[in-house]
Amino acid sequence: MTPNSEIAFTKNESDRADSFSEIWDVELNKVFADVADYYDRANTVASLGMLGIWLKKFVATIDVQPGNKVLDVCAGTNVMGITMLKKEPNLDVQAMDRSPDMQRVGAERATKRGFTIKSDIGDVHQLPYPDDHFDVVTLQYASRHLRILQVCKEIHRVLKPGGHFYHCDMLRPQNPIVEKAYYAYLYFCLRFTSWLFSSNKAALNCQDYFIEALKVFYSAEELSDLMRTAGFTTVEHKRVVGGMAAFHKAAKAK
Ligand SMILES: C[S@@+](CC[C@H](N)C(=O)[O-])C[C@H]1O[C@@H](n2cnc3c(N)ncnc32)[C@H](O)[C@@H]1O
Repeated sequence: MTPNSEIAFTKNESDRADSFSEIWDVELNKVFADVADYYDRANTVASLGMLGIWLKKFVATIDVQPGNKVLDVCAGTNVMGITMLKKEPNLDVQAMDRSPDMQRVGAERATKRGFTIKSDIGDVHQLPYPDDHFDVVTLQYASRHLRILQVCKEIHRVLKPGGHFYHCDMLRPQNPIVEKAYYAYLYFCLRFTSWLFSSNKAALNCQDYFIEALKVFYSAEELSDLMRTAGFTTVEHKRVVGGMAAFHKAAKAK
């Protein structure tokens, strides 16, 4: 990385925070409190059932060994933790999320399937864990709501040397035609699911935000560069669904 990249990312992150900090710090908690009980069903409807398929593909890329300590950042309803435990039941899984409602639903889902997932409620910009602690950290579908450079630096800090960070999210497509079609589809989905599940005022007010935040978020390549800037040595990504989403795998040096 050139020193300019760190400067460029710091500037971009500061611009994103200037645009969205009120929503990130106040409104999103109200949105996730409202959607917690129908979050998983709404995702299935909005993705026409594809989300479960992408989840399996993403988790298939994650190398977990028996006894590994795993942290799922912005864990929501514990979708990631549960899917990893199905793959390898002998894991020590820690979830962290700011929404008690999402984690309440997550705990119910884990218990129903016979799994234990530890939960910490808090803001992931400061992770309450020691340095060099986890073998694996995961983050799915939350990055555009975060000061992501800061969170990646925190994830790098809490990973053991040789540990891996796995990331999956919708990203800004680089092809302008795909990008336009994608935003139109999201616009429709957000309105349809809000109507179907009778979303509250906070969720209705944030409908445009979910697309605006994506427009100024990173492409798959830019996110790889940002992870290198945060300290990761080897970063690989695989674009999926025409670049509308990607799986990233980033290693902390041994
Ligand atoms: C779209 S959900 C994704 C949940 C889960 N990772 C998944 O794949 O289904 C985003 C989650 O990020 C959480 N979140 C957003 N900003 C956060 C922050 N600053 N600290 C902790 N959690 C946050 C929300 O509470 C919500 O549960």
